[in-house]
Amino acid sequence: MQKLKLTSQNPAETKTIARNIASHLKGGEILFFEGPIGAGKTVMVKEIVKSFGVKKTPVSASFSLLKKYKGKQFNLYHADLFRLEEGEMFNLGFEEMLEDQNSVLLVEWPEPAKNFFPNSRLEISVALLEGDKREITLKALGKTAQNLLEVLQKKLCKK
Ligand SMILES: Nc1ncnc2c1ncn2[C@@H]1O[C@H](COP(=O)(O)OP(=O)(O)OP(=O)(O)O)[C@@H](O)[C@H]1O
Ligand SMILES: [Mg+2]
Repeated sequence: MQKLKLTSQNPAETKTIARNIASHLKGGEILFFEGPIGAGKTVMVKEIVKSFGVKKTPVSASFSLLKKYKGKQFNLYHADLFRLEEGEMFNLGFEEMLEDQNSVLLVEWPEPAKNFFPNSRLEISVALLEGDKREITLKALGKTAQNLLEVLQKKLCKK
């Protein structure tokens, strides 16, 4: 399985999905967050970072491109690349992050990073439906992300 589609009725449900994802992260994963402004990308990132015992969690702020959080088991990096050009990806501290092999990397607006990061990742796309409703699509690239997706499917799709 390579894709999993979930529906969220409200922010609380989106946070539950995020916590479920967090509970299966072992370190070394890359997660991309896609979707329009106000979709809920930062809501998910925040909840994932919080799951690792971090008190001061991320906010939606396009001016802070890369932030590092010390989680219980590993470091978490939150990048927001909104409107960044691909050529501007250098000298932002990503080199340090990629050397930090056990870390988890959470990238909002990942477009400029698509060629920069390894191909193995979980792509999370949040689409706006009516009101507070969202469609959250999880797409796995590579073996690690596929395993993660299969575990999540069993957990989140059981009736
Ligand atoms: N089902 C839902 N899931 C997530 N957020 C929701 C939902 N319904 C309403 N919201 C609200 O939508 C907003 C999402 O904001 P958030 O900062 O996470 O968006 P974003 O995708 O990160 O946008 P940006 O591209 O500007 O960073 C929050 O105010 C949240 O409360
Ligand atoms: Mg955001």
